[in-house]
Amino acid sequence: MFFTLITGGAGYIGTHTLIELSSAGFNFIVYDNLSNSSEKSLEKVKKIIKKDIFFINGDVRNKKKLREVFTNYNIDSVIHFAGLKSVAESVQNPLKYYDNNVVGTLKLLEVMQEFNCKKFVFSSSATVYSKVDIEKATPLNELSPTGKTTNPYGSSKYMIENILKDLYISDNSFKIAILRYFNPIGAHKSGIIGENPNGIPNNLMPLITQVAIGKRKTLKIYGSDYDTHDGTCIRDYIHVVDLANAHVKAIKYLNSKNDKFHPLCINLGTGKGYSVLDVIKVFENISGQKIPFDFADRRDGDIPECYADPSFAKEIIGWEAKKTLEQMCEDSWQWQSNNIDGY
Ligand code: NAD
Ligand code: UFG
Repeated sequence: MFFTLITGGAGYIGTHTLIELSSAGFNFIVYDNLSNSSEKSLEKVKKIIKKDIFFINGDVRNKKKLREVFTNYNIDSVIHFAGLKSVAESVQNPLKYYDNNVVGTLKLLEVMQEFNCKKFVFSSSATVYSKVDIEKATPLNELSPTGKTTNPYGSSKYMIENILKDLYISDNSFKIAILRYFNPIGAHKSGIIGENPNGIPNNLMPLITQVAIGKRKTLKIYGSDYDTHDGTCIRDYIHVVDLANAHVKAIKYLNSKNDKFHPLCINLGTGKGYSVLDVIKVFENISGQKIPFDFADRRDGDIPECYADPSFAKEIIGWEAKKTLEQMCEDSWQWQSNNIDGY
C-alpha cells in the first residue's frame, strides 16, 4: 500500500487537507513535531473521517526519524505543510525560521531522494511576491515579480521555492508542486476543527472571532488611509476547505502522466479582494456580533492590495475556489463559538 506523508498534518491547513485526502481515497501518514499544534486536532479529524490516522511525532529536521518512517512505510509522495508561519516572530528570531523552514525542507528532501520518493507538494505563500514591485500590480499571477521579501518568514518560503527549482534541474524525475496560498480563513463545516493560534493571533480572522467571543475588547485596524475603496487593505481570503481540495488536485496532477510544468507553481486564491472593513461587515451580518474597532497606524510590511489571478490553477489542475466570504465568516464563527479556547 502506498502512503502520502503529510508533514505538519496536525496544523490548521493540514487537518483540513487530511479530510479531503481521505474522501478522495488517499492513504496518509501524519508527521508533525506538534510545535504549533496538538494531537487533539487529529482526534477530531478521526471523528470526521471515521478512520484511524497513522501519526508520528517527529521533526522534519530529524533525518534518522524520517529514515525510519520511509523504511517502515511505502511513501510515494509528500505534502509538506510543516513550517513556522509568524511574520513578526520571524523578524525577532530569523535563525529559528531559517533552521525550521529551510533546513527542515532540505533534510526532508535529502531523505526523499535517498528513498527515491520524488513527488512533493510545498506550502508556499503569496508573501514571495515582491512587495515593492506589486503595490499596484494586482491581480498577481505566477509570473509577477517575486523575491524582494520583507521578512525572514517570506524569505524562507522564497529560498525553498528556489531550492525546489534547482533540485528539479539536477534531477528531473522529481515532480514538484509549489502552492502559493493567499489568505486562508474559515473552518470545516462540522465546527470541530479550525484555526487554533497559540497566544495572541497575528492574523485578521482569528482576531475578529476572538473579539466576537469576548476574549478581546476591540480590533485594531492597521491603516485607514490606503488607496483603496474604504482606506483599509485589501486581501484575497480563501476558505481553508477550498485550499485543502487544491492539495488533492495537486497530488493527482503529480500522479498523472500529463503533468507538463516542472516545478508546477500556482496561486491559490479566489481572485476577489476584500478590505478589512468589508470582512468586518460581512462577519457582523453573519454572526450577529458587533466588532468594535479602532484605527491604528499602518503595520510595517503591509501593502494596500494583494489578490490572486487564480486562472492558472483552474487551467492546469482544474481547481477553483467555490466558497464565498459569507461562508468563510460563518464557518470561522461556528468553530470559534463552539470552541472558545480552541482544542
Ligand atoms: P500551522 O502552524 O497550523 O501548521 C503547521 C504544522 O507544522 C504545525 O502542526 C506544527 O506543529 C508543524 N511543524 C512546524 N515545524 C515543524 C517541524 N520542524 N517538524 C515537524 N512539524 C513541524 O500552520 P498552517 O496555517 O496550517 O500552515 C501550514 C503551512 O502553510 C506552513 O508551511 C505555512 O507557512 C504555510 N502558509 C500558511 C498560511 C496561513 O495564513 N495559514 C499562508 C501561507 C502559507
Ligand atoms: N489586520 C488588521 N488588524 C489586525 C490584523 C490584521 O487590520 O489586527 C489587517 C492587515 O493589516 C492586513 C489584513 O488585515 O491588511 C490581513 O492581515 P493578516 O495578518 O491576516 O494577513 P497578511 O495578508 O498580512 O498575511 C497573511 C499571512 C502570511 C501570508 C500572507 C499571504 O499571515 O503568512 O497572508 O498573502 F504569507
